Amino acid sequence: MQTSHVIADKDFVVAPLDRRVFGSFVEHLGRCVYGGIYEPGHPTADENGLRGDVLELTRELGVSIVRYPGGNFVSGFDWEDSVGPKDQRPVRLDLAWGSTETNQFGANEFIDWCRKAEIEPMFAVNLGTRGPREAQQFLEYCNHPGGTYFSDLRKAHGWEKPHDVKFWCLGNEMDGPWQTGGKTALEYGRIATETAKVMRWTQDGLQLAVCGSSFRAMPTYGAWEYEVLDQCFEHVDFISLHQYFENYENEIDRFLTVIDDLESFIVEVAAIADAVAAKRRSAKRIMLSIDEWNVWYRARAGEQLRGVGWPEAPALLEEIYNFEDALVVGGALLVMMNHADRVKSACLAQLVNVIGPIMTETGGPAWRQTIFHPFAQAAKYGRGDVLRCKVETGSFRAGGQEAAPYLVTSVVHDPETGAATVFALNRASEEMALDVDLRGLGNRRLGDTHELHHADTKAINAKDDPDNVSPAPHGEARVEGGTLSATLKPLSWNVFQTLPA
Ligand code: AHR
Repeated sequence: MQTSHVIADKDFVVAPLDRRVFGSFVEHLGRCVYGGIYEPGHPTADENGLRGDVLELTRELGVSIVRYPGGNFVSGFDWEDSVGPKDQRPVRLDLAWGSTETNQFGANEFIDWCRKAEIEPMFAVNLGTRGPREAQQFLEYCNHPGGTYFSDLRKAHGWEKPHDVKFWCLGNEMDGPWQTGGKTALEYGRIATETAKVMRWTQDGLQLAVCGSSFRAMPTYGAWEYEVLDQCFEHVDFISLHQYFENYENEIDRFLTVIDDLESFIVEVAAIADAVAAKRRSAKRIMLSIDEWNVWYRARAGEQLRGVGWPEAPALLEEIYNFEDALVVGGALLVMMNHADRVKSACLAQLVNVIGPIMTETGGPAWRQTIFHPFAQAAKYGRGDVLRCKVETGSFRAGGQEAAPYLVTSVVHDPETGAATVFALNRASEEMALDVDLRGLGNRRLGDTHELHHADTKAINAKDDPDNVSPAPHGEARVEGGTLSATLKPLSWNVFQTLPA
């Protein structure tokens, strides 16, 4: 049996948690849009073809913001194709995913979906094959109140009110050789600067995210971030990080430490951004937007990655998640939450079918993959201030890594409701006796508790067994005074809400 002790003090706050950390991503890729959020004729679809069952699960997931329309797709995307009368929209080849894009779902339909799901939209602009002019025109189409060509065009298309999209990504993975119109850091830094300028001249108060490296193992990682930010530091608010976790070696110990790599990634990118600030003697802090992250390694080759023969909405990147993936997703959320002072936005990639927490059958049901559960619980209970914790716990080594703590935890206190929630991931393959001293919060009582555990780390949820991996109330928790005590199952994700007594 492992033992772990945690002290969390109400007055030691990392930062208020930005709700946009619980974001997701919808790309025109595979069955994410077509057969995912949009499927006219589906028994649950509304008059606009939006699938009701997917909307319901999206609300339950607690998603705050959704990035759209890509991803690699955006680097060949002409936004004008996706608006106006549907019967006049062009059918195009999508070079990113070897698919045929019908444009029957586009920017305005996405806004309608967001409003229905009570989600903030996040748009990405095409800086692969296009540039500042088209990005500015798209912004004017979306957000300008009226009286200009593009804003009046939106009205003529049936959307009278501006969409008021605040958060914009300046391209996608522009360092990647696979990107349509990929660029060097200098080329990209320049085009991002010029795009940011005209977008800001069009509207005040936008939040702009510049592309960081496609992943931490890119040969240009680090140098890319520095050069790009050195070009556009004055013009942007965020730099993006993309992180897909892999378990090709099928070693659970090593797999569970991929979240420590994420921690290093966050610390490194923040340090590079601060070095660019230091060069300018600037107090401005660039924030981090982890605008693509998830486990993704199985559906990542050959016909899983590109359509063959230009199909419409083929089944691409349909990763089936197991219980150990859910542990990693939960752990990654805790790492991001514990960096709430810099990580102000993050998008689980993606939302449905394509490396998604939600799966559907075209014409059939929708269900929750294993990774749905830790995300939904973090989004539900992760409200308020993240507290800085002192953690005493055992550690392990895996895959040549530094010592990794068995317990990964985050404690979030909501000053408005008084709730303080302890999230705890037990990475040990034995039980753990946990106590958490919630200092400065007075006498407490136990609120909701949840435990996600399965004896088989490879267990999955499937259409005919959708609740195989699903949370249960925790059987082993109590609160005395201001101390929470619990016994955590081996390899388990746990949530303990405490409330003022
Ligand atoms: O999310 C799938 C793809 O992964 C995105 O289109 C791209 O940005 C990343 O490489």
